[in-house]
Amino acid sequence: MKRIAIYPGSFDPVTNGHLDILKRGLKLFDKIIVAILHNPGKSSLFSVEERIDMLSRSLKGMPNTEIDTFDGLLVDYAARRKAHAILRGMRAVSDFEYEFQMALMNRRLNREIQTVFLMTGLRWIFTSSSIIKEAARFGGNIEGMVPAFVLRKLEAKFKESQP
Ligand code: COA
Repeated sequence: MKRIAIYPGSFDPVTNGHLDILKRGLKLFDKIIVAILHNPGKSSLFSVEERIDMLSRSLKGMPNTEIDTFDGLLVDYAARRKAHAILRGMRAVSDFEYEFQMALMNRRLNREIQTVFLMTGLRWIFTSSSIIKEAARFGGNIEGMVPAFVLRKLEAKFKESQP
């Protein structure tokens, strides 16, 4: 039986912190489906298509991965994809309460699917897509925090939006 995990998130955009969790997860699972939450109600910098494109370029060297999008309940999506686990990264302590709440609700909704938390590499403890976007918006140096082509996409996006 293949051990399949879903790694869900907004990935707006993918960061090296996400890739760190994914690499760690691939040591535990046979396959990881990176699932972008398709949520038209949430404003995002990049379209779902752009996020898929950045993810697929980032996952080139990781054969046991797949990229997909989903809406609705995560556990329903996980069941449809025959996954056994939801993979989440744990960064600073501040992640704990929110992740705990979500994992317990997901368990209540579907007892068959386990949430697996992996601790992020120390370098990524305080990174998030928003903080990276904010630094990039004001011309801060975010090299090394995202893949090089994501860096270029961010620069282009903020240039576009300048008057
Ligand atoms: N490295 C760097 N940043 C990371 C990270 C890591 N390892 N892990 C998470 N992050 C960041 C993300 O970039 C994101 O940053 P942002 O808020 O600045 O954009 C932030 O942490 C939140 O993480 P993310 O995983 O993208 O999204 P989320 O917290 O909005 O959760 C779902 C998304 C998809 C897991 C959740 O909303 C969901 O399951 N939705 C479906 C409905 C559902 O079933 N809800 C639960 C039960 S009711």
